[in-house]
Amino acid sequence: MTPSAKSPKVPSLLTSQSAVAQKFRERFKSDPTIIVSSPGRINLIGEHTDYNNGFVLPAAIDKTISLAVSQRDDDQLHFLAADFNDIHAGTYTDFRKSTKLWPDYINGVLQQLQERGFPLTGLNIAIGGDIPSGAGLSSSAALECSVVFAVNELLGYGLSKMDMVRIAQAAENHFVGVKCGIMDQFASMFGKKNHAILLDCRNLKYEYVPFDLHQYAILLLDTQVKHSLASGEYNIRREQCEMGVRALRKIYPQVESLRDANRAMIEYTLRDMVPDVVYNRCKYVVEENLRLQVGCEALRRNDLVGFGKKMYASHTGLSKLYEVSCPELDYLVELAREEHAIIGARMMGGGFGGCTINLIRKPYINEVVQRLGDAFANRFGQKPLSHICNLSDGTHVVSAG
Ligand code: GLA
Repeated sequence: MTPSAKSPKVPSLLTSQSAVAQKFRERFKSDPTIIVSSPGRINLIGEHTDYNNGFVLPAAIDKTISLAVSQRDDDQLHFLAADFNDIHAGTYTDFRKSTKLWPDYINGVLQQLQERGFPLTGLNIAIGGDIPSGAGLSSSAALECSVVFAVNELLGYGLSKMDMVRIAQAAENHFVGVKCGIMDQFASMFGKKNHAILLDCRNLKYEYVPFDLHQYAILLLDTQVKHSLASGEYNIRREQCEMGVRALRKIYPQVESLRDANRAMIEYTLRDMVPDVVYNRCKYVVEENLRLQVGCEALRRNDLVGFGKKMYASHTGLSKLYEVSCPELDYLVELAREEHAIIGARMMGGGFGGCTINLIRKPYINEVVQRLGDAFANRFGQKPLSHICNLSDGTHVVSAG
């Protein structure tokens, strides 16, 4: 949702922190005080479960936003999006939404800090990175996390990582206006190299799960369909889930969220109480939580093939019951099912476009990408972009003055 999408065939000059620092110097005629790196995320399974107090299994990846910052002597906030040489100027005495989206992620975080009583100063900020935007890799969460992390370091607020995650999520909920759950910001902040994070969104307890890929790789195929429908439909899905919970509570007052519902409640109680569409949404969420738990057991046994089957089942639920897929995503998963080298695939993130995530046997990557790309281009006119990603550490300082 933030900086521009890039083809892997045209490597960006700005993927490195040093390039962002250089742009900062050129623009602001001084050195940045701190440079922070904040990753995008994938989600292995557990989609649209976070705001239903369920489980998710995301991981931070080796595609990042870099943010360089220093203090100013006045009340001005000057931002530079180094990837597309765009600037934005404002002040911390009057936060306003921008006609462009990217400054809102920065202003949203700063406003949240101010609302919580943390004193701000004027700031110069430059951002850049290599997370493709609109691909479902949470470039916006990475940006929010980089802002809160950098300002916390710069101004010495002493915030914990969990505080920062909540502030980043609140910025998206209240300033940007997307009622996202906590997964993306959490994954970006708490990521750990070679690990996924099993997060229980009810109590925010988490566990690092070693994700040993052996002879497999994580392949993302980006449809390049941008999710323009996404935020409106996303908020509608939330409301439908809440409607299901309200109905269930009439019979089961202990149900506070879909996390507390089970299959029997959905099939024998909810089905007759709500429209089919609400029943379908709730059925999907309850099943996805179960799938994730069985999938994690498979991972603990090192059974990646078993885990992959759950990914395919997750896609079917997202497409047929939760209805957040699109023809391009469905087609990529359909093609993946025919490839012996792909043991699991599904759409990833909020939906209506973006990427599929595929677990693929390494030696076959090139040949499979070629075959799927050709078939996809035959139907939709252009090949999907492909990215191999590795699981990486969360938001951190890369250089401090
Ligand atoms: C978006 C939101 C997340 C989560 C996913 C779907 O990425 O930001 O909070 O709800 O969609 O799993």
